[in-house]
Amino acid sequence: MRLSNYWILLFFAGNILLSFSCKHNGLDPLDDDDPIGNDTIPDGDTTGTGGVPCDPSVVYFDLQILPILQSRCAFSGCHNEASAANGVILTSYQKVMQTGDVTPFNLDESDLYEVLIEDDVEDRMPRSPNPALSQDQINLIATWILQGAQNLTCDANAGQCDTQNMSFATNIRPIIQNNCQGCHSGTAPSGGINLSTYNGVAAVATNGRLYGAIARQPGFVAMPFGGNQLPQCSIDKIKAWIDAGVPNN
Ligand code: HEC
Repeated sequence: MRLSNYWILLFFAGNILLSFSCKHNGLDPLDDDDPIGNDTIPDGDTTGTGGVPCDPSVVYFDLQILPILQSRCAFSGCHNEASAANGVILTSYQKVMQTGDVTPFNLDESDLYEVLIEDDVEDRMPRSPNPALSQDQINLIATWILQGAQNLTCDANAGQCDTQNMSFATNIRPIIQNNCQGCHSGTAPSGGINLSTYNGVAAVATNGRLYGAIARQPGFVAMPFGGNQLPQCSIDKIKAWIDAGVPNN
């Protein structure tokens, strides 16, 4: 082959590579024709009304990732603003992107992910004796990074909120796991309330403190502590489960 042919080949190969990487970068879950960050996604509005309904195939930072980081990582002595262990602060999207070593679309280059799956317990985050994140939570963080580590928001209250036949295992436990267990589990759970078992959740459900705290009623400490209020639909689901007599189903 003549040298000029190599150049032509290279040119085509380069183009193919480029179009592949563009496919990844061009991910826009809500509208294929619009670039990321357009106005159809209201910025910073996770609980408002009239926004874009949440797409179940998309991971939303404020709604799904931040609650995990806040309850499992961003506390005193670790990754809150005051402690900033290793310079890492995990209290907001901006701080996570500035200090958390996240490389969009790339898990290998994202320490925020790598530390979660570290085999050596001494190096794993959250540090032992805190338990590792659940596989679901790790998967969620991985998907968020692979979708571009964006700050997409959606209106969790738009559309139908199905509160029929709430199951503890399917509907309630995941909400508690992702938003509450970081503080309410282990040997010294916050407020002496352990929410890692059915019995623990049922106890505060039955005595009225669970609903009081998440609905932020007067006389109760607002939960999640220091975080955003749960989406109304999650509150409604928990309420429906309580009203049904806190079944262990
Ligand atoms: C960042 C840590 C943290 C997170 C996350 C958190 N809590 Fe708490 N929770 C606390 C602390 C600390 C207290 C004790 C507050 C006090 O007594 O002043 C508490 C107290 C409570 C109480 C008792 C409130 C009262 O007024 O009697 C309930 C119920 C509760 N939490 C439920 C939840 C639920 C449900 C979630 C998740 C939706 C949650 N918590 C998330 C730290 C947390």
